[in-house]
Amino acid sequence: MRSTAALGVVLALASGSNAQQSAYGQYYSQCIPGTGSMTQTTQTILTTSVQSTSSSSTQLTSTRSTTSAAPTGTSALECTGTFTPISASEYVAAMNPGWNLGNTLDATPDEGSWNNPPVVAETFADVKAAGFKSVLTSSGDVVTYADHFTGSSPDWTIDPDWLQRVSDVVDMAVDAGLYVLTNVHHDSWEWADVSASGANLTMIEEKMHRTWVQIGETLGCKSSMVSLEPINEPPASDAEDGTELNKINGIFLQALAESGGFNTQRVVTLVGGAMDSIKTSEWFVAPTGYDNPWALQYHYYSPYDFIFSAWGKTILTDSDIATIEADLANIRGNFTDVPLLIGEFDASPINCEPAARRKYMDVVARTAKELDTAVILWDNGLDHLDRDTHTWRDVHAIQILMNAVAGVSNSLSDATTDAAATEQSSSAYLFHKVGDAVADQAITVSLNGNTLDSIATDDGMTLTAPTDYSISDETITFTSSFLSQYVSETAEPGTKVDLTLTFSAGATAGVTVAQWELPTLASTSSTAVAGADLLIPITWGGINEPAAVKMLRSDGDYLFDDWTQYLGPLQAAYGTYSGQWNWDSGDLILTSTTVAAVIAARVPTTFTFDFFPRVAGNSLNYTLNV
Ligand SMILES: *[C@@H]1O[C@H](CO)[C@@H](O)[C@H](O)[C@H]1NC(C)=O
Ligand SMILES: *[C@@H]1O[C@H](CO)[C@@H](O)[C@H](O)[C@H]1NC(C)=O
Ligand SMILES: *[C@@H]1O[C@H](CO)[C@@H](O)[C@H](O)[C@H]1NC(C)=O
Repeated sequence: MRSTAALGVVLALASGSNAQQSAYGQYYSQCIPGTGSMTQTTQTILTTSVQSTSSSSTQLTSTRSTTSAAPTGTSALECTGTFTPISASEYVAAMNPGWNLGNTLDATPDEGSWNNPPVVAETFADVKAAGFKSVLTSSGDVVTYADHFTGSSPDWTIDPDWLQRVSDVVDMAVDAGLYVLTNVHHDSWEWADVSASGANLTMIEEKMHRTWVQIGETLGCKSSMVSLEPINEPPASDAEDGTELNKINGIFLQALAESGGFNTQRVVTLVGGAMDSIKTSEWFVAPTGYDNPWALQYHYYSPYDFIFSAWGKTILTDSDIATIEADLANIRGNFTDVPLLIGEFDASPINCEPAARRKYMDVVARTAKELDTAVILWDNGLDHLDRDTHTWRDVHAIQILMNAVAGVSNSLSDATTDAAATEQSSSAYLFHKVGDAVADQAITVSLNGNTLDSIATDDGMTLTAPTDYSISDETITFTSSFLSQYVSETAEPGTKVDLTLTFSAGATAGVTVAQWELPTLASTSSTAVAGADLLIPITWGGINEPAAVKMLRSDGDYLFDDWTQYLGPLQAAYGTYSGQWNWDSGDLILTSTTVAAVIAARVPTTFTFDFFPRVAGNSLNYTLNV
């Protein structure tokens, strides 16, 4: 789960081919509020071309012609039109990969309250368009209901305008050709935390039931492209909480059954404790007695320190990769027959080193594909899609995802993988230091079975071998004459040009040519002032962000987390992005939490800011006195 980024929950999946879109075009239907009488749904023949997770498409044909009675209880909704059933495994295959509409409908108190304006249809079109050719992409939205209740126990009435908005956004995504998975989101900690001390489980169960009856009535006549998830990342501390969440899954299904419409045939994605793969493996038991086709969803933001830039971690190690592969295999091993999806995962361009995070994207998506698990990328609006400019902030990462999900091998820029390293190299950059003579410079790329086809610049030039570069095995050497067009002993620091490496198959690789020097600070010390973040004005030296920040007290103790002494030299005594340090366009930032820790320690503390490239000589000290 992402803190500042927040977590996702409704996903939409791109339908694949045009044929599939037209097949789904017939499902739009009108909802008619019912009177509690039995609901009849007419089911039509399913003939849908579903893009499976393998690159070939499969024709699925099933014939069902039943007249299903509503389950016992009241049936609130009748639908005209038809509903084409789809199995959970077909659904999960067809929606892969997905994209999360993060920090939008889930924002509190309202859509638009966080970093994104209310969603518009163009965003779904952008997401669909990013699917390239026959690869599917997904989109989604995430809904928090907590601030939209207008009634209290026992009715827990939800503002009808909000329900209408949710319905409209679902339609918007379906109209763009996307499957949509929608959930109840930050309610998990606002009112539905079963693990909280003194939690009123009666209230949570009652409110969850009423919430899903109302959402079910709102969305009950939507097509089978729309699926539902009971609650996002519900906290769970122990097996008792896990058991309660199993009960919540059942209450959700019961509410859907009572709401009528097509809801008992609709695909749902059930959840385990915290949507954590281990807690889910340990405690999840599917409810019985319900007809819905169901998949199991979990989220994956591991290794935590890499994803959240904690404790100086900017490197993805080989052991991290082995852990990722084992984690995904473990939950698959526990649920061999269940359609699985990773409803959220991400390594954000905001804070993760490019070569390492592209490799992360590849390993998660590729491993998930091998384990028949769908993936849905988290995007808080600052991570991947720039919704204003309709551009993807890292097109290479998106291509890596698309290709990995299609089972195509990607070529990937290498980067340091050794946790004991004292410096970090990255083949996502060609760094040139101010004052140095320009020389030939090499990067290495793990070709993974592909060959290099071409290299082009974003200013429209195609490189020529051997004048501009040469390749030997997996080493690509750029000539000084090529590099001299962009960097020199005296060029201004900054990023100069982006190179796109195209291979015989798989994603492109991106390499940024950058000139750098040590940044400068307006001052190098101050006295700690409680209660506010400390902003330290900076003149950047090429890459406008810090890599990591070491926090060492003058008495030799670490400001936070003594245990980091057992980590490598790039991590020991280092702090954590966002909670302890940050930056803006013109400042380094020590958060109020960090300032308070210095005041509490009563000793001066030196902060060593490391920049990219993370090499000796590219760090600055700032001392906070008390
Ligand atoms: C718990 O919730 C139920 C249902 O909303 C309510 O009737 C009851 O009074 C609550 N109990 C407490 C101790 O608040
Ligand atoms: C089930 O999950 C647990 C926890 O991750 C793991 O230890 C165990 O090996 C898994 N079982 C199988 C059969 O993969
Ligand atoms: C920065 O501070 C550290 C101690 O935290 C020290 O070891 C290092 O030499 C300092 N670097 C410079 C350039 O002063």
